[in-house]
Amino acid sequence: MVFKSLREDIASIAQRDPAARSNIEILFCYPGLHALLFYRLSHWLWAYEFKLLGRFVSQIGRILTGVEIHPGATIGKRLFIDHGMGVVIGETAVIGDDVTLYHGVTLGGTSLHKGKRHPTLEDGVIVGSGAQILGPHVVGEGARIGANAVVLSDVPKGVTMVGIPARVAMRRLKKDEEQAFHAYGLTSEHLPDPVARTAETLHRQVMQLTQRLEELEHRLAEAEGVKDSPSPPAVHETRAAGHG
Ligand SMILES: CC(C)(COP(=O)(O)OP(=O)(O)OC[C@H]1O[C@@H](n2cnc3c(N)ncnc32)[C@H](O)[C@@H]1OP(=O)(O)O)[C@@H](O)C(=O)NCCC(=O)NCCS
Repeated sequence: MVFKSLREDIASIAQRDPAARSNIEILFCYPGLHALLFYRLSHWLWAYEFKLLGRFVSQIGRILTGVEIHPGATIGKRLFIDHGMGVVIGETAVIGDDVTLYHGVTLGGTSLHKGKRHPTLEDGVIVGSGAQILGPHVVGEGARIGANAVVLSDVPKGVTMVGIPARVAMRRLKKDEEQAFHAYGLTSEHLPDPVARTAETLHRQVMQLTQRLEELEHRLAEAEGVKDSPSPPAVHETRAAGHG
């Protein structure tokens, strides 16, 4: 069991870090992996009510790796903490599967109450270096948080958030891009031309607006149909004229 998850962790790092050259290198030179091993032991101790010992093991992990993970945090499979140093994961934080954190990330609390006060990161989230996610907010599946962003609200599934306070930068483009992992959270390689990116964004917005307009027209037609029945709804004429 322990070896299976270690093998999985190593394979996922090899997949997500273009700098990784061999499994041995990952095993010995990746503090994020070491921090995870310390976390698993400390979390096990914590769950079996050896709270102080759990904290102590976590503290040793912190000294050796620069990554502070509270033993009470809940972490899924294949978390990758690249570079490690300066990462802080609070007691009530919840992290799903296949999440990537770069150095300097804080999953922190903003209140002193003892309940849920740290963020929840759903599967596949990528958090850029130095980003801070503060409070019990949910970062939706596959979302990406830009380097140095400060997130103070829930983040919808699949969006990119940047800045302070963090705001949506752009939505994901295609289904296959949603599923693929992009090192450092970047997608620019798929649309390297800025003019093409702008055109793509405008196209998406026009499609959304068209869809919305059609929905509204449909509702209006229904409403007028009920009011004027049995005469034909006027909106059909308008729409036909518009398309002509
Ligand atoms: C947020 C991020 C994932 C976006 O990548 P992307 O999808 O390729 O998006 P782009 O680079 O095209 O940027 C989209 C917009 O967000 C802005 N932006 C990107 N990253 C930003 C950041 N960290 N802070 C503020 N704005 C940022 C860009 O300027 C651009 O704005 P514009 O549309 O007004 O020109 C990426 O920039 C990022 O920060 N990744 C983390 C990388 C990291 O931590 N690396 C550490 C390795 S050691």
